[in-house]
Amino acid sequence: MSKFAVLGTGMVGKTIGNKLVELGHKVMMGSRTHNNEKAAEWVAKHSHGNALQGTFEDASRFGDYIFNCTKGMMALEILDSANVENLNGKILIDITNPLDFTNGFPPTLTVSNSNSLGEQIQAKFPEVKVVKALNTMNCNIMVNPKLVNQGDHDTFICGNDEHARKWVTELLTQFGWEAKHIIDLGDISNSRGTEQLLPMWVRLMGAVGSPMFQFKIVQ
Ligand SMILES: NC(=O)c1ccc[n+]([C@@H]2O[C@H](COP(=O)([O-])OP(=O)(O)OC[C@H]3O[C@@H](n4cnc5c(N)ncnc54)[C@H](OP(=O)(O)O)[C@@H]3O)[C@@H](O)[C@H]2O)c1
Repeated sequence: MSKFAVLGTGMVGKTIGNKLVELGHKVMMGSRTHNNEKAAEWVAKHSHGNALQGTFEDASRFGDYIFNCTKGMMALEILDSANVENLNGKILIDITNPLDFTNGFPPTLTVSNSNSLGEQIQAKFPEVKVVKALNTMNCNIMVNPKLVNQGDHDTFICGNDEHARKWVTELLTQFGWEAKHIIDLGDISNSRGTEQLLPMWVRLMGAVGSPMFQFKIVQ
């Protein structure tokens, strides 16, 4: 049993939180307020005391590992509010995408090309072991890869700390991913690639008429 912070009360935070609790971990869901209604609903669904709620700061202090499931445009500000001392030395699994919907759909990226949100987080919090993962698919597939093509499709991870990448790979196998489908891209600058898949992802969703699809790399 490990202690996790899940920062974010949206569909990703809930889905990841559910899976972690199901795996027997203790999870605190973080939000801007200590009594967030969505987080309270999520806690109420898990009656055995392994689901807790708090502020972004409370959750980050609580968790030995941190899932960043926050709105991409606000992620740096939110992590600031969590207090760097609660983050330092920990593995932070970053699922965010820097999507900007201010001009409607399809969204643009707030950062791209020569930088990425994963790198911005790593640069702002150099003592945190940032691992970008799972950001290129619908959240239901993140914790249940068999929902698409019997699990025969791929996901990508990257981050500067090799041990942290291995640890996240192991966690993803507990989520149901076969190790051969977890492609380790290397350092965090590779999140430029995985985040820049999103403009394609949103267009594919329109073309195939559903978010339930995945990328599969063939050679
Ligand atoms: N939806 C998917 O299937 C999917 C797939 C891959 C990646 N992603 C990425 O995963 C992340 C989470 O997505 P989501 O749809 O679950 O949630 P979301 O709506 O993008 O974000 C929810 C969280 O962001 C916080 N937030 C929103 N606006 C804020 C503001 N102005 N100031 C501070 N905090 C703010 C909320 O705080 P409160 O709790 O206090 O309201 C909440 O905890 C996003 O970066 C998204 O791009 C999503």
